[in-house]
Amino acid sequence: MTYVVTENCVNCKYQDCVTVCPVDCFYEGENFLVIHPEECIDCGVCEPECPADAIKADTEPGLDDWLAINARYAMLWPNITEIGTVPADADAWNGKPGKAALLITGDAPSRNHPQKPTYPAGGEPAPEVQEGFEVEGARIAFPEPGAGAVPVVLTRIDGTGDDGFEMDGLRVKS
Ligand code: SF4
Ligand code: F3S
Repeated sequence: MTYVVTENCVNCKYQDCVTVCPVDCFYEGENFLVIHPEECIDCGVCEPECPADAIKADTEPGLDDWLAINARYAMLWPNITEIGTVPADADAWNGKPGKAALLITGDAPSRNHPQKPTYPAGGEPAPEVQEGFEVEGARIAFPEPGAGAVPVVLTRIDGTGDDGFEMDGLRVKS
């Protein structure tokens, strides 16, 4: 069992919870705090301290998503042991619905991978990629044959070859 910070903490972040936790297991995001589920000793002291009633025991039903959020961001956010700046509009946010969507996690946006070309076994690149294609923002060109040009060969990485280099799941050899 652990205690879990839930939706109504978002944008309230009163931090009264931090001041009473005997094991300092709160972690701070931009507009939300989380409890490290494996550090929490289930003392329950923080639960009544939260003015937003945002701290729940994980034995309450329906808290799986919030438990996962607490577990994840306790690994990523910094520990907080003293009350810091409480948002000036915390009271205005207390009890507002739909705050889960406003949670700021600080996760980097997912990377936008360009579509990797696919090659039929033993075949040529599709016509639309014969001139080259982009991988991770770099352009791989297929040089014209002749004139000393060295073709670039791309193969899927299926081992630990020591030739070429790896880029975006492909081995680049020339
Ligand atoms: Fe800290 Fe106790 Fe609250 Fe767990 S239940 S977060 S140990 S004050
Ligand atoms: Fe959040 Fe309540 Fe603590 S609003 S910061 S869980 S006191």
